[in-house]
Amino acid sequence: MRLDKRLMTIIGLGLVLGGAIALIAMPDLRQRLAGGGATVAGMGKAQVGGPFTLVDTAGKTVTDKDFRGKHLLVYFGFTFCPDVCPTGLQVISAALDGLGAKADRITPVFISLDPERDTPQQMAEYVKSFSPRIVGLTGSLEQITSVARAYRVYFKKVKDEKSTAGYSVDHTSIIYVMDQKGEFVAHFTHATAVDAIVARLQKML
Ligand code: NI
Repeated sequence: MRLDKRLMTIIGLGLVLGGAIALIAMPDLRQRLAGGGATVAGMGKAQVGGPFTLVDTAGKTVTDKDFRGKHLLVYFGFTFCPDVCPTGLQVISAALDGLGAKADRITPVFISLDPERDTPQQMAEYVKSFSPRIVGLTGSLEQITSVARAYRVYFKKVKDEKSTAGYSVDHTSIIYVMDQKGEFVAHFTHATAVDAIVARLQKML
């Protein structure tokens, strides 16, 4: 019994010590990973964005590579959203109008977080009502979950008696700015002033 106890104590101490060493070593490990930006993609920069496969309003499969060469404004939401998404899309449209001809270098993308209701046709109707420039993207729940994770976007189906479908979708409302290579540049929200967005985009273009 005594030997067992001693053995347990030694194992216990070993675990605590091992944990402490791991914790101490972690920041260094993280720094080293960040330093090797070329090998560990995106570690040095804000880890937002990445590869995705989605479905456009024509029902065609598209990937992040189809958007290379253009700056992107990436916004997530759903067409049945009562107020936040419409505000966000209005802000995006107004900012692009404010950029004049330079707006052609930016592709605004609206990605659905409600693939159940947001069919390609539904997305087409919806984005058209804000601006003909906006690209609506939807997909399978798996595809949507994957792209939301890549952009650090939270979304959750919640009960909503007021909705005819009986549910709503809680979600993050962030407008991401990505460069021509698909790298994160900046972010805004639906509440950011249009002038401030125009000024920031002008600096980037
Ligand atoms: Ni919304």
